[in-house]
Amino acid sequence: MSKTVVITVDGPAGVGKGELTRRLADAFDFDLLDSGAIYRVLGYAVRKAGLALFDEESVVSEARLLDLSFSLENDGVHVLLGGEDVSSVIRTEEAGANASKVAAYPRVREALLQRQRDFAKGNGLIADGRDMGTVVFPKADCKIFLDASCEVRAKRRFLQLEHKGLKPDFDKILKEIEERDKRDRNRPVAPLVPANDALVLDTSELTIAEVFEKSLSYIQEKTSLSV
Ligand code: DC
Repeated sequence: MSKTVVITVDGPAGVGKGELTRRLADAFDFDLLDSGAIYRVLGYAVRKAGLALFDEESVVSEARLLDLSFSLENDGVHVLLGGEDVSSVIRTEEAGANASKVAAYPRVREALLQRQRDFAKGNGLIADGRDMGTVVFPKADCKIFLDASCEVRAKRRFLQLEHKGLKPDFDKILKEIEERDKRDRNRPVAPLVPANDALVLDTSELTIAEVFEKSLSYIQEKTSLSV
């Protein structure tokens, strides 16, 4: 059987990884690993069990037992915790912050490592996260790191929420992004940093179509893949 091609896309919250990785998975007909969803589900499971996020032992136990699965439906990938569809509840800002907290425990990351590596089967995988190129798939065929300033990412998030008819608070969004960045970039294990061999793309001044085109050219230059 031929080897699975792995393409990693890392970067901070709100930088556009989700949209880019969906487009790349579609273009190459590859599987998609949304590793952030795993930490989000863990944060949700911990709270649902009535446990505290700072109770490291309990969080580690939950991570080891996490009954998580993904299912592909007509409207996209759904995330299940046991039998419960948690796809929407894990997408709130609070769920993102909780995910970032549980993700800072080294033993949690260790407990979830193999589960992420198991996604690399079949033709190819697009892996979306913070440490895909550095820790989970250090030998990936191609690595991309997206970045943009906190202000730009907060503005994008603000516009998304406004578009949904909500009345977002820009300063609050900016503060949440800054806090999550600080935690994700400064943790001792698997911090958010570009792999040495990653293409770093600053998306501040780019549209999603431009980010997609640049990523596609880079992947085609590094691998023999065609779309
Ligand atoms: O990508 P996301 O916003 O869904 O991720 C939520 C949090 O999960 C993020 O702030 C940090 C953590 N995370 C991580 O530590 N490692 C990953 N590979 C993916 C996410």
